[in-house]
Amino acid sequence: MKPTTSLLLAMVDMALARPSPSPNTGKHYECETYNIPISVANVPTLAVPFTVKDQYEAIDVLATLNNRSPPDWLIHPKLVNVSATYNMAMQYCFPVDQPVSSTLQLLTHGIGFNASYWDFYLPSNPSDAQYSYISAATAAGYATLSYNRLGIDGSGPADPDKEVQPTVELAIMARIIQTAREGKLSEKIPKPSKIVHVGHSFGSILSNALAATAPTLFDGIVLTGYTGDTQYQKGNSAALGFNRASDQNPSRWPAAQYPAGYVTWPNKWSLQLGFFSYPHFDPAVLDHTEAIKAPFSTAEFFAAGLLKFAAPGLVAPVLYVNGEKDLGNCGGNCTGVLGEGTPSWTNFNGSSDIESVIVPGYGHGMNMHYGANKFYDTISEWMKLRGF
Ligand SMILES: *[C@@H]1O[C@H](CO)[C@@H](O)[C@H](O)[C@H]1NC(C)=O
Ligand SMILES: *[C@@H]1O[C@H](CO)[C@@H](O)[C@H](O)[C@H]1NC(C)=O
Ligand SMILES: *[C@@H]1O[C@H](CO)[C@@H](O)[C@H](O)[C@H]1NC(C)=O
Ligand SMILES: *[C@@H]1O[C@H](CO)[C@@H](O)[C@H](O)[C@H]1NC(C)=O
Repeated sequence: MKPTTSLLLAMVDMALARPSPSPNTGKHYECETYNIPISVANVPTLAVPFTVKDQYEAIDVLATLNNRSPPDWLIHPKLVNVSATYNMAMQYCFPVDQPVSSTLQLLTHGIGFNASYWDFYLPSNPSDAQYSYISAATAAGYATLSYNRLGIDGSGPADPDKEVQPTVELAIMARIIQTAREGKLSEKIPKPSKIVHVGHSFGSILSNALAATAPTLFDGIVLTGYTGDTQYQKGNSAALGFNRASDQNPSRWPAAQYPAGYVTWPNKWSLQLGFFSYPHFDPAVLDHTEAIKAPFSTAEFFAAGLLKFAAPGLVAPVLYVNGEKDLGNCGGNCTGVLGEGTPSWTNFNGSSDIESVIVPGYGHGMNMHYGANKFYDTISEWMKLRGF
């Protein structure tokens, strides 16, 4: 099947839009939190020939990742299976003032965040929902299930080098979707008729990989902060700095729980470089994003080569939503990076329904830019048009 042409929706007024008026006063949705055990079995992972012991080694891993001649342990990876059960911190949100759609949205966040990426509010302005994807999705009638990825804020425990690897996280995601489909996550989470997966960045990488390995597990995917084009990633990963999380903030990330394989970027300026596009954001949002950032593992980078992205078996609709200035996915200019003949389309050559939206002026951390609620509405419209 032949993919349709990229539809570039007109969203031009968005880029230079200053803070839009608060779209709601008083929340129209509620959320419940859960800790749900999720088991994975026989997941192939990269057998790492080392343990990241200290800050010097974490930087050395970053240097290795950016080396033009990768070491043998990356070119010819040795595999080892992981089987484990993890407690996953999840959040189920639903509208309280209208009927709930039978389509469930599963939300997977990216590197450097926890599930709060999808429900971001400035403490100084708690009624301004312009940065809350969940507020917009529930206003459109959808329930959402978001979760902290493995290793972060109650999801685990997990060894950062051996377990917080992309293939394990993919298996967890697949298991969550399968269990949700069967209506067995919790008695309080209704069995959905359809599931649409919405990812951001690393969450979209996992989503594409899921389409490649289990193309019938979900009914549609929305890939945000992701183009499938890896050529711009190197410089961007260097900007992430790989600072040991437990050195940076030992009270939030104690070393016993967050060993040296858990890292973060150095400060808010690195955050701006990797995720924000100036001047399309409120500096207070940059500060608060830095304040609530979550660590990631070096293994999430060095073991990513085990994922597969060609997903010819996927027939479900695909929507890309990307910031025009995304550095890591587009080298700072997304025009022409998405569309026919690019990995964004060829990865899904079995789907006859692929579209892309470029949001003018935005950087990689899409939810953190002025007026994000407008592109959320675009996603809701896309879903409604497809009967979700
Ligand atoms: C590892 O898991 C794969 C399935 O993912 C299985 O085929 C293989 O036999 C397992 N290997 C070992 C040594 O258990
Ligand atoms: C995400 O991290 C922030 C800051 O540490 C924390 O306040 C919040 O509860 C976390 N959210 C979840 C869903 O764990
Ligand atoms: C779709 O892509 C796969 C590789 O992922 C390839 O084997 C197949 O030939 C492609 N199909 C078409 C119709 O281009
Ligand atoms: C972005 O890339 C496109 C396609 O290569 C090009 O036409 C355009 O001029 C570039 N934009 C900027 C601001 O350089």
